[in-house]
Amino acid sequence: MKLWKQAILAGAALLVAVGAASAQDVKIGFVVKQPEEPWFQDEWKFAQEAAKEKGFTLVEIGAEDGEKVQAAIDNLGAQGAQGFIICTPDVKLGPGIVAKAMANDLKLMTVDDRLVDNAGNPIEDVPHMGISATKIGETVGQAIVDEVKKRGWDMASVGAIKVSYDQLPTAVDRVAGATSVLEANGFPAANIFNAPQAKTDTEVALNAATTVINAHPEIQHWVAVGLNDEAVLGAVRATESVGIPAANVVGVGIGGAESAINEFKKPSETGFFGTVIISPKRHGYETALNMYEWIANDAEPEKLILTSGQLATRGDYEQVRKDLGIE
Ligand code: GLA
Repeated sequence: MKLWKQAILAGAALLVAVGAASAQDVKIGFVVKQPEEPWFQDEWKFAQEAAKEKGFTLVEIGAEDGEKVQAAIDNLGAQGAQGFIICTPDVKLGPGIVAKAMANDLKLMTVDDRLVDNAGNPIEDVPHMGISATKIGETVGQAIVDEVKKRGWDMASVGAIKVSYDQLPTAVDRVAGATSVLEANGFPAANIFNAPQAKTDTEVALNAATTVINAHPEIQHWVAVGLNDEAVLGAVRATESVGIPAANVVGVGIGGAESAINEFKKPSETGFFGTVIISPKRHGYETALNMYEWIANDAEPEKLILTSGQLATRGDYEQVRKDLGIE
């Protein structure tokens, strides 16, 4: 073989070797605020698919408070990771998270909950993937309005349980989207009752909703909205615990992960009428892939990606999940 040919072949082999080694050396953290929540488990699952496909290592970390977030970032730095994706337990940790990431020389992306600065404004420099909160909230509101009309309830005497979590902007936008559609369709604003939750799980939502229901024994028909399926499930459980029949309750959640699916699988219909299914595949697989491309090929992700959702009920959730590729 001619010398120059040999040189080219050797160079090509070297390039392949470098490429392969670099994928193996890539380590990405995926930090979530509530590891026990099915949504976040699904995100991890799809992020691992991206890791398997590209050959990098994905480190799953649960961080329920600020201290754990700090420790997680230092730990990733010490392990030689090059970047991480985070859904933070508190968006106000934003400036601290950015500083810690920089100190550890880690690329940073956020998912679901967008970081805010000290003035409460979104930190726009950090690439983020979240849901189109207002629009998805409006889909929730419309689903409720349609079902209330179908059941022939008198809109003026229906009560709405608004399970709220106001320290999280996406939560505020989701429920505001939902209640705006209720009001635009003749739902009295005075019948929308706030049930603030201090933590975003079903148990806390149940307690918050129980207080509202007990304060309004005159109300026969209830609807429920909230940040996610867990919030709405809490409200539905609260109606059950005081003996309100399922036929008098229309709760519509957001998420479509296991908590909602289990509800649809129950032998008889509960007050959990539907959920707007969002895509853990996009939020998990795509963010992990974007981070990988950023590290391996210097391709910086888009600064803001907002994903959509689709209403599903007991009758069609399997099809909707199939359509979204999240079975
Ligand atoms: C927030 C909620 C989660 C989920 C995601 C989706 O983080 O707490 O339950 O709804 O948004 O983006």
